[in-house]
Amino acid sequence: MINRGGERSVLHQMLRCGIFVFFALSIVACGSMVEPVMREATATSVSVDEPDDSATPTMPPTATTMPPTQTPTTAPTAMPTLEPSPSPEPTSAPALSPIDRLVAVRDPFNGAILFGTFQDAANYSCANCHLTDSEKANLGPGLLNIKDRAATRVEGVTAAEYIYQSIVDSKSYTVEGFDPELMPQNWAEIYSDLEIFDIVAYLMTLEGRSDIDDPDPVAEDAD
Ligand code: HEC
Repeated sequence: MINRGGERSVLHQMLRCGIFVFFALSIVACGSMVEPVMREATATSVSVDEPDDSATPTMPPTATTMPPTQTPTTAPTAMPTLEPSPSPEPTSAPALSPIDRLVAVRDPFNGAILFGTFQDAANYSCANCHLTDSEKANLGPGLLNIKDRAATRVEGVTAAEYIYQSIVDSKSYTVEGFDPELMPQNWAEIYSDLEIFDIVAYLMTLEGRSDIDDPDPVAEDAD
């Protein structure tokens, strides 16, 4: 009986010892797993009271879900895609101006309608004074191939800019041989800017075989 009791007590001791060792090992194992997480947590400025303490292994596993989700949300930036865009046409030197860009996306068909529409406030339509299928003069210069001439009228001014300027402020440049007073000065009051950009877009489409040897003799004459 004593022996059995002794055996039991030994077994109990062994069991206790085994349980103790098991817990001790699990605590050590848990601590070694938690330690890197704790380092991360402290690195990302999450406040942890005792980072080096081995007595708090049961707490951090809940905290493991927190740190990894924090860093990816703030990290991505959409900026890198912006850089490759400014090189669509490396051959042409001058950059497109705001007016160039606007005219490029406007509606030339609406511009054609507006060009032919009689306006009481001006007492004219554009078409009353300008031919669109010829370079020959009417009351105003013929506008066939105006895109090419417009590009050379004023240095540093693009074709679209020049045509726009010719409409809203025709006196800023007078075509040689024409009366600067003839073209109505109030188109900017009659048409909105976007409508004028439509008209410019339309005039930029007027291309065809030249029907005059020198459409602008005085301007082209070197003498
Ligand atoms: C009453 C006649 C008249 C009307 C209407 C008129 N213009 Fe003119 N336009 C002229 C004359 C004259 C000139 C040349 C004198 C000058 O440059 O100011 C001219 C010049 C121009 C030029 C410059 C041509 C070049 O070769 O450099 C453009 C572009 C133009 N007009 C567009 C228009 C448009 C668009 C309208 C309608 C919104 C219009 N014009 C209405 C008479 C007219």
